[in-house]
Amino acid sequence: MRGSFITIEGIDGSGKTTQAGRLVEWLREQGHPVTATREPGGTKVGARLREILLAPANAITPEAELFLYLSDRALHVAEVLRPALAEGRIVVCERHADSTLAYQGFGRGMEVALLRSLSAIATGGLAPDLTLVLDMPPAKARLDAARLDRLESEGAEFLERVAKGFHQLAEAEPERVRLVDAMGEVEAVHEQIVAVVRDLLERRLPSAARKRKGS
Ligand code: TMP
Repeated sequence: MRGSFITIEGIDGSGKTTQAGRLVEWLREQGHPVTATREPGGTKVGARLREILLAPANAITPEAELFLYLSDRALHVAEVLRPALAEGRIVVCERHADSTLAYQGFGRGMEVALLRSLSAIATGGLAPDLTLVLDMPPAKARLDAARLDRLESEGAEFLERVAKGFHQLAEAEPERVRLVDAMGEVEAVHEQIVAVVRDLLERRLPSAARKRKGS
């Protein structure tokens, strides 16, 4: 059976990296084979695309930016995501197609339906089984003002539009896209995530869940 594909999304400074790390640790403790990865930058070429995308000095038009993210995604799907899922692994990925809808769509104002079609070319139709959106007001985002990257420098209104975009994505697909209140302590946020992921695994891997319950 194909493995499970979990993505972690949210505005910049919402704690994605910390929570992805805690989730990966928990899944490994439960005995699952896990691949931890991210977009942009989950492949060798992707790491270079990430540098280009995030360097504040680079002037990049919204259209060029979109295709750079999609190039990174196409490589990532082919080199990392599909092979890991084919081996039955659980993939925990920081950001994926929903970031394109939230940032390039709601943030930059590009047409969301068109972005869905273009992103489907990059993914070949692969979609997450579960997407956790770390939700917090942009004013509370933990950003280092002295070291903002190109996207983080877009300002408060841009981040507001992105945050609203994530809310709309969660409303449109409530089964797949779950909002997680990211305002609490790291452990409290982690507990919410574990509850949702446990649910997913019990649906997808019923035998593993039974074994854990000792039946
Ligand atoms: P991060 O990995 O530190 O979150 O930085 C990645 C940045 O790239 C973040 O500001 C969100 C942005 N991004 C997009 O605008 N579109 C995308 O499709 C992806 C994957 C990320």
